[in-house]
Amino acid sequence: MKLLVVKSSVFADGGQSTALAEKFARAWREVSQDLEVVERDVTSNPVPHLDGERIGALFSAPEQRTPEQQAVVDFADALLEEVTTADVIVLAVPMYNFGVPSQLKAWLDHLARAGVSFKYTDTGPVGLLKDKPVYILAARGGVYHAAGQDFQAPFLRQFFGLLGITNLEFIYAEGLNMGDEAKEKALNEASRQIAELIPA
Ligand SMILES: Cc1cc2nc3c(=O)[nH]c(=O)nc-3n(C[C@H](O)[C@H](O)[C@H](O)COP(=O)(O)O)c2cc1C
Repeated sequence: MKLLVVKSSVFADGGQSTALAEKFARAWREVSQDLEVVERDVTSNPVPHLDGERIGALFSAPEQRTPEQQAVVDFADALLEEVTTADVIVLAVPMYNFGVPSQLKAWLDHLARAGVSFKYTDTGPVGLLKDKPVYILAARGGVYHAAGQDFQAPFLRQFFGLLGITNLEFIYAEGLNMGDEAKEKALNEASRQIAELIPA
């Protein structure tokens, strides 16, 4: 049983999404003796943003790659392997300026690879990855999901859907910057939902 935990808060261990992800992993460890937890923190260990050189490397034919291009492909392959070999994925997702952290976007950008993680067909793109549970721990200062104004969740659903992963579950901690009472209530509710998700 392998759990991939992806963290992306700029506040590192002080991030609310980080704390929820830790809580999730801890709770799962308690019920699963053989749990292997793989952690990918895209803020403390950033994935480079895509640029022309990296795209060129990822699009290059294997037999024509320079050693530098091969290193880029190997790096992207390693990120993808963490995803493909995980049984369950937990994404700690803060909301920054209405979207996902750019560090997390850079990680996602390395996963979406035509011919590797999805393919184009006459009827549109088709995902090539096995479906698996992805739990999204979404921390926000304000309230979006509850107000029907959430752009993060549709983006993440569409993105993982491209790869063939549709089993997404969102746990929201909203209103974290709206006073102590709202914050405590939101974190308690998210913790309760996490506890409910862990298999007995
Ligand atoms: C740079 C920055 C941008 C933010 N933008 C938003 C935003 O657009 N909407 C919102 O509700 N909260 C926003 N917040 C508040 C965060 O969502 C909140 O602090 C949340 O706890 C972030 O998750 P984290 O603690 O895991 O980093 C922002 C915070 C920072 C630091």
